[in-house]
Amino acid sequence: MTAGRNVITINKDWCTPRKYVDAIKEFFGKQIDLDPCSSKYSIVKARIEYQLPQTDGLTASWNYRTIYVNPPYGADKERGTTIKDWLKLCAYAHEKYRSEVLALVPVATNTSHWKEYVFGKANSICFLADTRLRFIINGNDLNKGAPMACAMIYWGRNGGRFYDVFSRFGAVVSIRRLTKKKWKSPDAKNSDSELGLAPYLRESTSHHPLAGPDL
Ligand SMILES: C[S@@+](CC[C@H](N)C(=O)[O-])C[C@H]1O[C@@H](n2cnc3c(N)ncnc32)[C@H](O)[C@@H]1O
Repeated sequence: MTAGRNVITINKDWCTPRKYVDAIKEFFGKQIDLDPCSSKYSIVKARIEYQLPQTDGLTASWNYRTIYVNPPYGADKERGTTIKDWLKLCAYAHEKYRSEVLALVPVATNTSHWKEYVFGKANSICFLADTRLRFIINGNDLNKGAPMACAMIYWGRNGGRFYDVFSRFGAVVSIRRLTKKKWKSPDAKNSDSELGLAPYLRESTSHHPLAGPDL
């Protein structure tokens, strides 16, 4: 499968290459506050890094100003999670905490996770031009790029700055108008989607259902 859903095994850490780490830091003004799914091989070096087995990034707090996410692309059978859970939290952190969030993910525009948490939620997308994006795999640049197309997605308020920093890496498209008109997926079945609100955002508690206490 080539839409970024089954192409990567989860026993390898496909870490962000230097050129994107530098651009992300430039975009955030040097500091990445949170990397919720870090690795011992990562060169992201966020101020707070969640790493298994100590900290599950899908249950710990995302209440940080700047967040960068390069999630596992394959399903985690042990925890019953997928990339959709990570994108859900990206959208959630921006809506709930006004976090500025960047995520590096496979282009998969026909999936429910793009339709629910990218379209109508994110500000902009950079469709990366890399023919084969060279992740750092388990600490090594293997000179072998990833087979799928990737995008940098931005949930935040500064689309102009996103364009300025990321347009050198690919085609930057603003999807901000979709958030303004409360974009509804053609697949949406329930009223939450009609309102443009994911179910977890309609709850009155200060934390999302998966999160632990704020750090
Ligand atoms: C694609 S790698 C990215 C590493 C790093 N963020 C980077 O970009 O260089 C994804 C990492 O997330 C870790 N991971 C997977 N599920 C996780 C979870 N629930 N909580 C925290 N980390 C997780 C994996 O072990 C893997 O090291």
